[in-house]
Amino acid sequence: MTGIRSAITAVHGYVPDYVLTNDELATMVDTNDEWIQSRTGVKERRILKGDGQGSSVLGAEAVKGLCEKRGIDPGEIDMLICATATPDMLFPATANLITDKVGAVNAFGYDVMAACSGFLFALTTGSKFVESGSHKKVVIVGADKMSSIVDYTDRTTCILFGDGAGAVLLEPSDDENGIIDSVLRSDGSGSEFLYLKAGGSAYPASHETVDNRQHYIHQEGQTVFKFAVKKMAEVSVEVMERNDLKGSDIAWLVPHQANRRIIDATANMMDLDHSKVMLNIHKYGNTTSGTLPLCLWDWEDKLKKGDNLILAAFGGGFTWGATYVKWAYNA
Ligand code: UT7
Repeated sequence: MTGIRSAITAVHGYVPDYVLTNDELATMVDTNDEWIQSRTGVKERRILKGDGQGSSVLGAEAVKGLCEKRGIDPGEIDMLICATATPDMLFPATANLITDKVGAVNAFGYDVMAACSGFLFALTTGSKFVESGSHKKVVIVGADKMSSIVDYTDRTTCILFGDGAGAVLLEPSDDENGIIDSVLRSDGSGSEFLYLKAGGSAYPASHETVDNRQHYIHQEGQTVFKFAVKKMAEVSVEVMERNDLKGSDIAWLVPHQANRRIIDATANMMDLDHSKVMLNIHKYGNTTSGTLPLCLWDWEDKLKKGDNLILAAFGGGFTWGATYVKWAYNA
């Protein structure tokens, strides 16, 4: 152990301009605003339009804003990890495309693929580089253009997702605040309930995979819902218990925004007042790797140095986890 702690020292987000409302979705599939809002909490989501525009476009905008806000030159970044389930291409990594777009010429980077838990997994990984003393400015990006893999003829999934990105800067902490602890889990036996089947090495793209709509998200909603409620709460409670935290010690729960009902259940299990739960699913829907940093971005001006935050996520894979952060700055 070096004794160095890694801290989030800036956060920024980016969502595209186009707003896809529940009413517009109701013109595309058999659904309605009342059903979507009551079952999921989503009112609208953002969509990135335009040919050749991938997740790197979203991520790069978030990173540019991050550097401006912190007053650093992108050349000072020495590592950039991008969590994404919708890379621009299978390779090169979206992290490489982002570093090029923002001019982070001295950074090395790679992608982390852990579906909706990707940001949390990447945050923990990046923190280790800061804690080891080898890297001093590590950017963690969560960027997903979910509209590129959503089947807009499937009413059970197309209502949920949106496009967006967020980014945080990790630097060595100058006090006791920072990334304190994480409980991260994955279980590949859950892969059959939430996946995108084709386009990888097992089922390369073919006429058949296109005809069978296998380049879109497939989700068994109820099964995923049950696991998400159980597992997200389980790890959140575990990370609280091993750091001697009670519900009253927590300033904010920063939950993955998949379904408002999953978030409410997690808060209840943590014995947490619902006024302490960050919720922006109504504006953006589920942006996969983008949800946690977009919450931090939306709430940044309310966060105070020393606040105890629990970040929690659940996603395809299955993957899930919770991270305890002591917030390191006043906005
Ligand atoms: O971030 C990654 C992890 N993902 C998640 O955490 C998502 C977890 N799952 C969910 O959020 C929920 O399961 C959904 C939002 C996907 C679905 O909600 P639900 O309460 O589980 O609905 P359901 O699948 O039990 O469907 C109830 C009814 C069905 O009709 P019948 O069979 O009762 O007649 C569906 O066909 O609602 C119907 N339905 C819809 N109706 C109007 C399903 N989707 C829609 C829709 N509009 N969009």
